[in-house]
Amino acid sequence: MNVLVTGGMGYIGSHTCVQMIEAGLNPVILDNLTNSKQAVLVRIEALTDKRPTFYQGDIRDKALLVELLQSENIEAVIHFAGLKAVGESVEKPLEYYDNNVNGTLVLLDAMREVGVNKLIFSSSATVYAESDIQPMNEEFPRGASSPYGRSKLMVEECLTDFQHANPDWSITLLRYFNPVGSHPSGTMGEDPQGIPNNLMPFISQVAVGRRESLSVFGDDYPTRDGSGVRDYIHVDDLASGHIAALQKAGNVAGIHTYNLGSGDGKSVFEMISAFSEASGKDIPFVVSARRAGDLAEYFADASKAEKELGWKTTRSLTDIARDTWRWQSQNPEGYPDDK
Ligand code: NAD
Ligand code: WQD
Repeated sequence: MNVLVTGGMGYIGSHTCVQMIEAGLNPVILDNLTNSKQAVLVRIEALTDKRPTFYQGDIRDKALLVELLQSENIEAVIHFAGLKAVGESVEKPLEYYDNNVNGTLVLLDAMREVGVNKLIFSSSATVYAESDIQPMNEEFPRGASSPYGRSKLMVEECLTDFQHANPDWSITLLRYFNPVGSHPSGTMGEDPQGIPNNLMPFISQVAVGRRESLSVFGDDYPTRDGSGVRDYIHVDDLASGHIAALQKAGNVAGIHTYNLGSGDGKSVFEMISAFSEASGKDIPFVVSARRAGDLAEYFADASKAEKELGWKTTRSLTDIARDTWRWQSQNPEGYPDDK
């Protein structure tokens, strides 16, 4: 089966492409490389003996989409492409709405034109409203708190309306919790440009000596050790969630929504300890003020995905820390720059 993977050169998309090839699926990647590098293709090939077909281009280019959906005989689309930095989205809302919302609408329009009617969309737990009740299931009230989060929420709503008007379509919304970890080979991983916004890449850059110390954003939350608690999910578990979604939900018309998380929350201090143990390095940290917009604690009720997709996470926090360290220590500066 030929599957268009938008954003397939990125962190989650690249790991998903490896598993797709291993599962006998044929990923065709479309990516504009705004947040990824060509070197990813070589790494996918080294792991799978297959270099996916790659188009460097933009999801907002409808003519390109129509051409490649037809010429590559695409049967389904996994749609990762988009911008994802919460803080940046506050500064640049137009770019976020254009890439994430408009980009998805252009993609949908192109798919409709050529008759491809299976879509898996990368959504986020950020679409849920703040809640004291945990874990969160798929029916929880929605309410985003940043332009990034709102862009995901808007896309979910557009896709839901579209599916209702086109009942033969299969559209799956996957709400990821906190993706972390790397391929166990240490050859592929998360490669943020500039100063990392997220906890795990920051910790691993401190461990490898690229940064002096980690700021722990608050130790006075009403959690078990005072630091923030999140549901961290290994990127390879996330990748296998996409294959399960494609193979199960993708064959049933409807709008399907699943949380992809482990169902278990870990604190910032627990992440530091796990990483320190896996790497054998001290992780110097200083406790600083809470980060604006952060919540104390949230994690997934992932039972719906287990029941309906037969999917659950299998990788532990120890696996996450070990695989991330392997990637970071073997590639201290991330992927090599494109020539
Ligand atoms: P990433 O930035 O590593 O990958 C996204 C890819 O999309 C990049 O390779 C980028 O070059 C490409 N891209 C961006 N805009 C594009 C456009 N207009 N046209 C073509 N390509 C474009 O991000 P990721 O972590 O792999 O995330 C993938 C998806 O999952 C995103 O939609 C993101 O919002 C969503 N998501 C990510 C997280 C997370 O914490 N990583 C959590 C929840 C949801
Ligand atoms: C995790 C915990 C921080 C950095 C983000 C997006 C979300 C989703 C996943 C896309 C929190 C603490 C962090 C640091 C710290 N992405 N922290 N020092 O904020 O839960 O989720 O990524 O959809 O939308 O908001 O992830 O990794 O930034 O933070 O103490 O340097 O680590 O306060 O408790 P977050 P994160």
